[in-house]
Amino acid sequence: MSDVLRQLRQQHVAAEARPRLLHRYAAFLPLTEATPPLSLGEGGTPLVHAQRLGREIGCPELYLKLEGLNPTGSFKDRGMVVAVAKALEAGARSLICASTGNTSASAAAYGASAGLETIVVLPAGRIAAGKLVQAQLAGARVVAIDGDFDDALRLVRELARQGAQLGHPTTLVNSVNPHRIAGQKTAAFEVCDDLGGAPDYLAIPVGNAGNISAYWKGFSDYQAAGLVENRPILLGFQAAGAAPLVLGHRVDHPETIATAIRIGDPASGEQALRARDESGGRIEAVSDEEILAAYRDLARLEGVFCEPASAAAVAGVRKVAAEGAIDPSATIVCVITGHGLKDPEAAAANAPATLAAAATIEGVREALGW
Ligand code: F0G
Repeated sequence: MSDVLRQLRQQHVAAEARPRLLHRYAAFLPLTEATPPLSLGEGGTPLVHAQRLGREIGCPELYLKLEGLNPTGSFKDRGMVVAVAKALEAGARSLICASTGNTSASAAAYGASAGLETIVVLPAGRIAAGKLVQAQLAGARVVAIDGDFDDALRLVRELARQGAQLGHPTTLVNSVNPHRIAGQKTAAFEVCDDLGGAPDYLAIPVGNAGNISAYWKGFSDYQAAGLVENRPILLGFQAAGAAPLVLGHRVDHPETIATAIRIGDPASGEQALRARDESGGRIEAVSDEEILAAYRDLARLEGVFCEPASAAAVAGVRKVAAEGAIDPSATIVCVITGHGLKDPEAAAANAPATLAAAATIEGVREALGW
């Protein structure tokens, strides 16, 4: 056998040593023998050392957890695979969720894979193009309401309660479903596995505050199991257009571009505040301008193309570091929650212009200024 083939075979064995999410972290998940082994290949996302960006903001040990590389392009898949597997186990036939786009794309995909009907209720006209078509193509029944995310969540909670009596039993798969949080905490396990311990700081965008709560649960589970000694300081960042966890920052700013984190009444707000205090961390607001500057820098300096809301963690770390509040030797992990292709309009609005040229050598040279 050639060396190349031998090496490939070894890599194959290594890939098997990194099994799918439900299997890999089964000891920490609410699984039984009756839970179906659902998977679209979620989890196992890269942790990338952002050296250029880190140097620029004065944090050389800056890492990015690229959650946009999950199957539907966001971190939601980690929680959704558990929630949908548990729904199947319980005999569900239908899923329902409210969403600013990513939850619905994920619910629709896992619903399709599980053979369940998926209903999503969205604020009309506010969903990024990439996210909406994901849910539609996966066959979800999409209802666009004349209201915001908070209205949509209130409606689906009530519909899930009424469903059984109305002859439409349906499982709520927003992050108020505890199986979502259980699945999402696996990202904290991966961060610890990859770094060989917990980071000093974990920075993360906050919307409904489910994900920050899930990470804290994950770090706490690993510490309780003796797998890590410490837990990180949590730094949560909300879009300033709606930052209800940050006193004094609630302003009405409906045109904010960071729509995915524009939530007025975070469903997991209390857990998030408790996690913040236990970790000695903070939850703060960042402006759209700060978020978009980080969004462009992630692409320009690191080649990481995320959706705007996902850049809030980097925007926040830059701000806190500029205050001198972070030791430059600290290890910081920023969670990059969703992929840039989710929101092509935001990308186009932030991209530099192309250079026009005739289809000749001279024309291209002229355009390049050669
Ligand atoms: N980042 C992205 C890209 C999101 O889509 C969301 C939430 C968050 C961060 C915030 O996470 O809610 O757990 O604090 N999106 C939800 C949705 C609301 O419907 O897709 P959180």
